[in-house]
Amino acid sequence: MKIGILGTGEVGQVLGAGFANLGHEVKMGSRDPNQEKVKAWVNKTGAKASSGAFAEAAAYGELVVLCTLWAGTENVIRLADPRNLAGKVVIDTINPLDFSAGVPPKLAIGHTDSAGEQVQRWLPDSRVVKAFNTVGNPHMIKPEFPGGPPDMFICGNDDQAKETVTGLLKAFGWSVIDMGGIEEARYLEPLAMLWIHHYFRTNSGNHAFKLLRK
Ligand SMILES: NC(=O)c1ccc[n+]([C@@H]2O[C@H](COP(=O)([O-])OP(=O)(O)OC[C@H]3O[C@@H](n4cnc5c(N)ncnc54)[C@H](OP(=O)(O)O)[C@@H]3O)[C@@H](O)[C@H]2O)c1
Repeated sequence: MKIGILGTGEVGQVLGAGFANLGHEVKMGSRDPNQEKVKAWVNKTGAKASSGAFAEAAAYGELVVLCTLWAGTENVIRLADPRNLAGKVVIDTINPLDFSAGVPPKLAIGHTDSAGEQVQRWLPDSRVVKAFNTVGNPHMIKPEFPGGPPDMFICGNDDQAKETVTGLLKAFGWSVIDMGGIEEARYLEPLAMLWIHHYFRTNSGNHAFKLLRK
């Protein structure tokens, strides 16, 4: 499948390489496709990887992954052009973080709304699925923890889109729990805050969530 990655940070680089390793063709979008880190990522990732403007990556992808700084996301969506994303599955990895008072960051939006819902409102014709936001990027691909694979919580309004994303997550080694509609992002984004605050308390990102059942 052709996959567009909107974002050049650690998440975009890790997920882009992960999809390329699964055999997908990946185009990484940014404001400047010639910036050094993008050129280095394309070189390192190999023949399945390419880069372009946000709109080029959005148009290219049959499925698109949004992995941008929350504060820049509305701009990214404008640059990508919602028409290039219409009808497509859009994976939203974003945590709406406010770093204005330093670290650990605070949630910029929450409890009665979420970044996931806002992204779906900005992209009314896309099928937004929240995923990957409750774990650090070093463990997004093939997470290995004592006690078995952690759980990836996802949500979104379109069941078929969630099935597609579940298939990709399983290929990366995740167990997947569907939490329901995109409004569940109100709880997945604060859950990421728990992950982030534990990161700052322990100075380690080697933790992930699992729901125990019997
Ligand atoms: N880091 C993690 O481990 C982790 C884990 C879970 C979820 N997340 C979430 O994943 C998302 C990506 O995180 P990240 O650390 O990989 O990258 P990031 O540094 O949060 O975002 C980098 C991307 O944001 C774009 N950007 C920033 N400001 C912009 C603006 N004003 N207009 C347009 N584009 C703008 C940059 O575009 P250019 O390329 O053009 O500069 C770049 O592609 C974040 O929302 C984060 O909360 C991160």
